[in-house]
Amino acid sequence: MDMIKRPRRLRGGETIRKMIRETRMDKSSLIYPMFVQEGTGREDEIPSMPGQFRYTLDRLPYELERLAKAGVGSVMLFGIPDHKDEIASQAYAQDGIVQRALQVGKEKFPELYYITDVCLCEYTSHGHCGMLCGHEVENDSTLDLLAKTALSHVQAGADMVAPSDMMDGRVLAIRNMLDKNGHKETPIMSYAVKYASAFYGPFREAADSAPAFGDRKSYQMDPHNSREGVKEALLDVDEGADIIMVKPAMSYLDMITKVKEVTNVPVAAYSVSGEYAMVKAAAQKGWIDEERIMCEMAVSTYRAGAQIYLTYYAKELAKCMDEGR
Ligand code: PBG
Ligand code: ZN
Repeated sequence: MDMIKRPRRLRGGETIRKMIRETRMDKSSLIYPMFVQEGTGREDEIPSMPGQFRYTLDRLPYELERLAKAGVGSVMLFGIPDHKDEIASQAYAQDGIVQRALQVGKEKFPELYYITDVCLCEYTSHGHCGMLCGHEVENDSTLDLLAKTALSHVQAGADMVAPSDMMDGRVLAIRNMLDKNGHKETPIMSYAVKYASAFYGPFREAADSAPAFGDRKSYQMDPHNSREGVKEALLDVDEGADIIMVKPAMSYLDMITKVKEVTNVPVAAYSVSGEYAMVKAAAQKGWIDEERIMCEMAVSTYRAGAQIYLTYYAKELAKCMDEGR
């Protein structure tokens, strides 16, 4: 047997295996998505997302403390308002739920980094991400409201804004609005490569944001397309996006790799609610090893090229990362 090359030599023990690892994960790259709601004294568990809650503002600091203790330094805030209307007025209200959550968070845990999801779907009575004209979601009239929303978040203390609506030109509209108002240094993370995905199902239950009619296919991307994702990413970089996000993560790892290749900005990936729900459900049945699956999903996302990872498992992952798993 004259085999010179034996890949197994480098797999012989834990030390050598870890020495040659190509992907190393660090908890400083994690972002934890969380939901805030009106009212007091409640943290309501989301039925399809066991372990995830909608927090009232008095309960928010307790969760922020757990995150800080786990070493998760960044959060992405989603708001669930009491009042929804045609023009999403609570999205950009000075005393809106996200705006107040930012004030609470910034006061109690100023060391955390606060990112906000900028979209209208949680705030519109019809659940679409933009203004309606008949049954059509109108692009250009939505841009003003998105820009206003982003500005109100930054004025309330957001460190970064993340538009997730998929209207054309929204990054530029937000950039201009922030710059005009003296927030030239606030970065924009664009949900640029965002697919019309069934993986968002549990989120829409959590945020009460399912569209009342139709679907989001006229603005979110068709899962069949890859080059179109490249187009979206490049457009948003041109409009001033500082970070580009791919979403969902697990079924779109090819897009993470592509976007990494064709841009020179950091790439983020969002492991969405449906990914979390699937793992939880199978784990509860005892069919999979939850912790190992969670780690493997994270590793594959970073291996594909993501530098930033948004996940509902952030706290648990931080621990695994510290332990070098
Ligand atoms: C708002 C928004 C959604 C998600 C992030 N921002 C829902 C949607 O687009 O329908 C999904 C996040 C998740 O599923 O975890 N537009
Ligand atoms: Zn939306």
